[in-house]
Amino acid sequence: MEKKIDRRTFLSYLGTGAAALATASAGLGLLEGKASAASKTADHLFGFKTNRVSGYFEPIEPSNEDQLLLPKGYKYDVIANFDDVINTAGDKFGTGSDYNAFFPIDGSNSRGLLATNHEYTHQFLHGEIKDGKMSAQQLKNELYYQGMSVTEVFQDKDGVWKLDKTSKYARRINGFTTFELTGPAKGSSAVGGVSSVQGTFANCSGGVTLWNTVLSCEENFTETATAANLPLTHYGWVIEIDPFDGSFLRKHTALGRFSHENTAMGLAKDGRIVVYMGDDKKDACVYKFVSNGKFDAAKGRANSSLLADGTLYVANLKKGEWVAITIDAVTKAIGKEGFKTPTGLKGTVEELKARFKSQGDVVTNCHEAALILGGTPTDRPEDIEVSPFDNTVFICHTNNDLHGNIHGHITRIFEKDNDLGSKAFDFEIFAAGGRQSGFSSPDNLAFDSNGSLWVVTDISSSSLNQGIYTTFKNNGLFVIPTSGPNKGTAMQFASGPRECEMTGPFFAPDERTLFLSIQHPGENTTDLNNPTSLWPHRKGDKIPRCGVVAITGFKLG
Ligand code: FEO
Ligand code: CA
Ligand code: CA
Ligand code: CA
Repeated sequence: MEKKIDRRTFLSYLGTGAAALATASAGLGLLEGKASAASKTADHLFGFKTNRVSGYFEPIEPSNEDQLLLPKGYKYDVIANFDDVINTAGDKFGTGSDYNAFFPIDGSNSRGLLATNHEYTHQFLHGEIKDGKMSAQQLKNELYYQGMSVTEVFQDKDGVWKLDKTSKYARRINGFTTFELTGPAKGSSAVGGVSSVQGTFANCSGGVTLWNTVLSCEENFTETATAANLPLTHYGWVIEIDPFDGSFLRKHTALGRFSHENTAMGLAKDGRIVVYMGDDKKDACVYKFVSNGKFDAAKGRANSSLLADGTLYVANLKKGEWVAITIDAVTKAIGKEGFKTPTGLKGTVEELKARFKSQGDVVTNCHEAALILGGTPTDRPEDIEVSPFDNTVFICHTNNDLHGNIHGHITRIFEKDNDLGSKAFDFEIFAAGGRQSGFSSPDNLAFDSNGSLWVVTDISSSSLNQGIYTTFKNNGLFVIPTSGPNKGTAMQFASGPRECEMTGPFFAPDERTLFLSIQHPGENTTDLNNPTSLWPHRKGDKIPRCGVVAITGFKLG
């Protein structure tokens, strides 16, 4: 296919910022030569200033050690673990660390804010849950320790990354934080008529916006919402926070409600915002949201309103079409003579008609609406990234044992005319998990400026190091070039501690630091006095602690 922006074009935009590069890749060229309002963080959407990260390490072998192992010459600093104090108010770092986004302070690559997701709680927080019912304190912890942390991190004079606990920005966002709803479900009967809701939890992956805020995705929210007696329809959305402004808290209902894994933002050729999203369930769909209005870099955070008004599409892979998910389309489909409830959906035709009366109903029951309209059920779509080099879209289909996709694959979508706003596309299987590739169950993705994908794996703890999963050993971090002679070849960069998955890889703008979460080490522990992992192996500590590390040692020459 024709490439609108190759590496050379990319390099010619160095220093002009994310908006310029996005505009260039969208074929507009409007901002050529002008400095962007966006800071370096948003550059992660579209590439990096340096261009030498991958290809400079010796791949490691799989390992089942209870350690975070890296190639020769690299090291990691533990920045924060579960229950660490993060600020002078005594707030604590949450559990189940997942997505990370680094925001430089004053353009620095060695001091900034780190926004981290906290996906779920674990046995080391709760201890025994008697008769399956949480006590008042357990319930409080369940809501407190999920959500997000904003921490201030810095590299000291010896190059060691640390938390700055005196930070004025450091704070928690959790199950007790109030969010304002935006979009079609706001105030609708689908959410009980409310315009704001209590809390966020089950925050899995996310993404940064072109205006330097963070989108964080509520994935498996049912258990916590049910335990806390909170309405299910208030969760399963994409939230937006501003790391530098604690008062900015939104849930964008136009982006749909499902088991949200991630967001990947880009620009259509005409300047509209496009957000790609996965629904991490077996036989669930891939979505993209396209705003009605156009991005204007000069408007900064006010661009957030673009996420309240637009069209949500679902991918029909058989036809190569993005299908608009609207109340009109759903009503028409259900009303057609001979309509049958699609496989995987519950309810009679009459029940479906009653469920869908407004666009608020459609976004709230998004998966059902998508299947009614012909959205293709896929194999657990998790993270998605848009290539900064050619606008192709990479999707991790983690796995799906319902029909034999045991090791998963990475799907690559080619939008028609390289336009993220297109309604038609083609696709290929870019890389397949399995013995032949050395990885299984791809989950989170991040691009480096070489155009290589950094891919973490999520083999479930119950399968790791057994049977057909034995050769992969612990979950890993792999680098896969998307062009050149090693295109599609996975090289292992890291091996995680026992029973963890590594999540949330995110480079500092200079690519000298890679932030990474270590989630659920020791997940298979049944006897709390005898945990299966003790990572990070703190002196005297008797439990494993999920957390975030900063990896350094990248040779940029
Ligand atoms: Fe939270 Fe789909 O991983
Ligand atoms: Ca994930
Ligand atoms: Ca990602
Ligand atoms: Ca996962």
